[in-house]
Amino acid sequence: MIKKRLFIKILVTYLCIIISTLTMLGILLSFLLNNFFIYNKQMEMLVKANDINKLVQPFLVKKRDPGELIRLLNSADRNLGTEIWVIDPNGFVIAAAADQKAHEGNLVGADDILEMQQGKVSIRKGKSQLYDETVLWVITPVQENNRVIGGIIMYSPIIGITQTMTKVKNLFIYSAVVSILFSAVVVYFFSRYLTGPLQEMNRVAKQLASGNLAERVSVKQGDEIGDLGMAFNHMASEIQKNEKVRRDFLADVSHELRSPLTSIQGFVEAMIDGKDKTPEQRQKYLGIIHDESLRLARLVNELLDLSKIESGTVEIAREPVDMTEIVQDVITKAKAVVNDKKIKLYRENPGRSVMVMGNRDRLGQVMTNLLANACRFAPSGSEIGVIISENAADVKVTVRDEGEGIPEAELPYIWERFYKVDKARSRGQGGTGLGLAIVKHIIQSLGGRVFASSSNTSRTEIGFILPKAAIPPGYPE
Ligand SMILES: Nc1ncnc2c1ncn2[C@@H]1O[C@H](COP(=O)(O)OP(=O)(O)OP(=O)(O)O)[C@@H](O)[C@H]1O
Ligand SMILES: [Mg+2]
Repeated sequence: MIKKRLFIKILVTYLCIIISTLTMLGILLSFLLNNFFIYNKQMEMLVKANDINKLVQPFLVKKRDPGELIRLLNSADRNLGTEIWVIDPNGFVIAAAADQKAHEGNLVGADDILEMQQGKVSIRKGKSQLYDETVLWVITPVQENNRVIGGIIMYSPIIGITQTMTKVKNLFIYSAVVSILFSAVVVYFFSRYLTGPLQEMNRVAKQLASGNLAERVSVKQGDEIGDLGMAFNHMASEIQKNEKVRRDFLADVSHELRSPLTSIQGFVEAMIDGKDKTPEQRQKYLGIIHDESLRLARLVNELLDLSKIESGTVEIAREPVDMTEIVQDVITKAKAVVNDKKIKLYRENPGRSVMVMGNRDRLGQVMTNLLANACRFAPSGSEIGVIISENAADVKVTVRDEGEGIPEAELPYIWERFYKVDKARSRGQGGTGLGLAIVKHIIQSLGGRVFASSSNTSRTEIGFILPKAAIPPGYPE
């Protein structure tokens, strides 16, 4: 259906252009031709009238009949269809070229001879009933010593003007018909060229809407339609990808929620069945239930937090903050936790305030996450370092540990939600797999980027780079 409608629309546009152009051209051309013919004829008649005038003048002066002369001249010009009359000063025809009986002795129109009597040449134009043509007549006075002694009237239809105009008109009609036919063919192919891809996109869009996300269009044009096809396919891929992310996410969430829930359920059932015989056992069961419910709560909170940062519903305010201060705070808190693992925490920094554009609370959260990971994977007695370095534009914070590291192939994925390198290992240690995803989103929304590297010789470096901020005036360096 689109095809027909588009075809008709384009065709109508073409027709309007062709017809209006040809009509305008036709009007202009016929006007110009008409003027050209008339002007030429006038010039020709004036020259001839002048010549005849000179020949006739001696006859009139000597009062002889110029009839023979006129008839002679006129017969030579027969093909031009010019009539020549010689008149006396009062307008009576003295001599007529062709049909002398019919004209001689007649009086010509008074308005025609008025100017002649004053010694002026006049040219007139009118429509002849005889020929159905435009006719011109030239009246020239014949003079002797500045006295009008007679006149010559030349009367001529502008032969061929009507015929030529008809020819021109026909030519225009033919060319209009030909170009209309031609454009109909062109428009037909053009509209097919346009509508083919459109119809296909239409079909594929319906397929996508009905859930068939693998459908793509095959549009190969190298123009805007091709671009549209590519954009369309890109959109379809994005929809497909989002759909996959959504499904995976749902699966991950349910999976993560299931294990603590199963655990809680199991211990509660055991208690209902009276399996907690001693108060110690009871205490142990309740402790596990408590831990699992805390873990559930943490999972849900982190999920909420992540979705808020991701969707941008929480605005993370940015202001210049001192990175060394934040790192120091987090290290102090972490020390209390890692004491029993005998891990040594150290810090390297430029020895002065390093300001970044960030948010104190959120950067604290980031550092806590990174340090918690490092502490979790670092063996007892090893060292964990936080290194702050800077260049002209950025500040780089790296958390380095000497744990078992992350396999090269897994590195790009650690930033994804729920991703854990070794599922069994992390679960036992209570990880949700959301920590680094939250870190990445916080850093990105602060205009920075994250990085991770790990060598098999067990040195893992995970950190971020943030744009530097100027140190506010009066701030201790
Ligand atoms: N320093 C590290 N050394 C080795 N592996 C790490 C390190 N940091 C992160 N990982 C790996 O990356 C995974 C993802 O880390 P992430 O912080 O996102 O989740 P988590 O620590 O398991 O859970 P959560 O942070 O929510 O408690 C971890 O499960 C772990 O396998
Ligand atoms: Mg973590």
